[in-house]
Amino acid sequence: MNDPSWRIVEDYDALSREAAAMFLGTVEENPRSVLLLPTGSTPEGMYRELVDAWRARRRSFRRVTTFNLDEYVGIPTSHRGSYRTYMQTRLFDHVDIEPARAHVPDGLATEIRREHPGIRLDRALELECDRYEKSIRDAGGIDVAFLGLGRNGHIGFNEPGSPFDSRTRVVRLHESTRRANAPWFEGERVPERAITAGIATILDAKSIVLMASGTAKADAIARLARGEVDPTFPASALLAHPRVLFLIDRDASSSTPALRD
Ligand code: GLP
Repeated sequence: MNDPSWRIVEDYDALSREAAAMFLGTVEENPRSVLLLPTGSTPEGMYRELVDAWRARRRSFRRVTTFNLDEYVGIPTSHRGSYRTYMQTRLFDHVDIEPARAHVPDGLATEIRREHPGIRLDRALELECDRYEKSIRDAGGIDVAFLGLGRNGHIGFNEPGSPFDSRTRVVRLHESTRRANAPWFEGERVPERAITAGIATILDAKSIVLMASGTAKADAIARLARGEVDPTFPASALLAHPRVLFLIDRDASSSTPALRD
């Protein structure tokens, strides 16, 4: 197995700055970089830093291509809980990323259903997933995948038990994941299914940065640090990747004394 790199920073702000610096460094090195992007509360600080960098005219994202990891099934892109809305409001609306190159799976497969009138939703979603994988390939593959971490070890929406050779597909969300994500839906029902890039889709990235912040992630980090590759803990698939960095803050490392100097 490869030796993964760990970087432990002081707090959430430092984590956000580091992650943004890695993003900006990647784009500086190759303005046409292809990036896989996460949602959730963890990357919000990174996106704020990126918007600041763009506003200060320190960077342009004009030639970058982005793919998001996941999206809920059954809600329109305009829904306030959708990851498309998240990305528009956190990043895309504020910087010069080309809209046609900012990809988020469509949890209603709108275009496909328009192209195939009468098609069943589930079939349309399958085609949407295949199309997403093809778009990633056509873009030349992912250069850097930025990931968050679910408390149960999920990455994207690859829940425990997801095959390590999985590709973009429709998945059923665990109750614990739906509960964790309920605040984004402000009392409305959290969707039961989602489209997610697969574990193999993520592992195809040339390099991977997983971010985790806060004591709520400490147990998941402790399990990851034990180094056992186990399909009941999806993030452990990353341990076999040749270029992965676990970027975490002190609170996230609080159950793993071995990680703390
Ligand atoms: C959601 C997303 C994941 C994300 C996880 C952690 O389930 N689909 O991609 O990593 O939440 O979210 P947070 O950063 O809010 O803890």
